[in-house]
Amino acid sequence: MIEIRNLRKSFNGNNVLRGVDLTIPTGETIAVVGQSGCGKSVLLKHIIGLLTPDEGQVLVDGRDVHSMPEKELYALRGRFGFLFQGAALFDSMTVFENVSLGLVENSTLPETELRRIVAEKLAMVGLPGIEEKKPAELSGGMRKRVGLARALATNPDYMLYDEPTTGLDPIMSNQIDALIADLTRKMNATSIVVTHDMFSVYNIVDRVAMMHEGRIYFTGTPAEFQSSDDPVISDFIKRFGR
Ligand SMILES: Nc1ncnc2c1ncn2[C@@H]1O[C@H](COP(=O)(O)OP(=O)(O)OP(=O)(O)O)[C@@H](O)[C@H]1O
Ligand SMILES: [Mg+2]
Repeated sequence: MIEIRNLRKSFNGNNVLRGVDLTIPTGETIAVVGQSGCGKSVLLKHIIGLLTPDEGQVLVDGRDVHSMPEKELYALRGRFGFLFQGAALFDSMTVFENVSLGLVENSTLPETELRRIVAEKLAMVGLPGIEEKKPAELSGGMRKRVGLARALATNPDYMLYDEPTTGLDPIMSNQIDALIADLTRKMNATSIVVTHDMFSVYNIVDRVAMMHEGRIYFTGTPAEFQSSDDPVISDFIKRFGR
């Protein structure tokens, strides 16, 4: 379970998080939506301790992420898969090296086992056999899928997806959505999907949380979100439905 309590963060007077409260029970898939720049990526980075809050807490399975010793934080990160916005692959490394990164950092598996796991994850995302390619040789959609394979490589308990379909055409977006929906069913992981994409919301998640003015403005089911007559919500849906 992830519990976010009164999380506050500003950057040089820019009050981005103004008291975010959100509880995500184990096994749930939740969408976090909100306007560009409202702090969705900042929120995800607090969950894995890449950013430190000014105030408030993030508890993962009851443990405070920002007060745990560094060693424990590294161990905790090993239980998270993170698909970064824009995939964030290392261009100088092969697909194999990119996907195995988390495995190499967190354990001492023999090369044959690394090869086996990477092959398995690439097959899961529909890209078998591309281990020796470099990211520059791949399309945007393929890069996202390689990023997804990397996030999956450690069999994480928690998956964080930051804009998995942004910048992709509708067909590729649907494929990625279907893949994430399938993965969330199979893995039983607790997942947070940050997205602008209402299609992803309706097809993948159990619950929607909308951020607005630095706080969680709404939480509810996709159906409740879609049928809301709150002007802030209906305006958002009008602009970001596809
Ligand atoms: N490391 C940082 N230093 C200073 N400002 C930052 C930093 N990270 C984020 N910000 C600011 O925090 C605000 C929220 O950024 P964030 O990336 O979380 O938005 P977002 O909701 O993910 O937007 P998008 O949908 O465009 O990805 C922005 O104004 C951004 O400029
Ligand atoms: Mg973002």
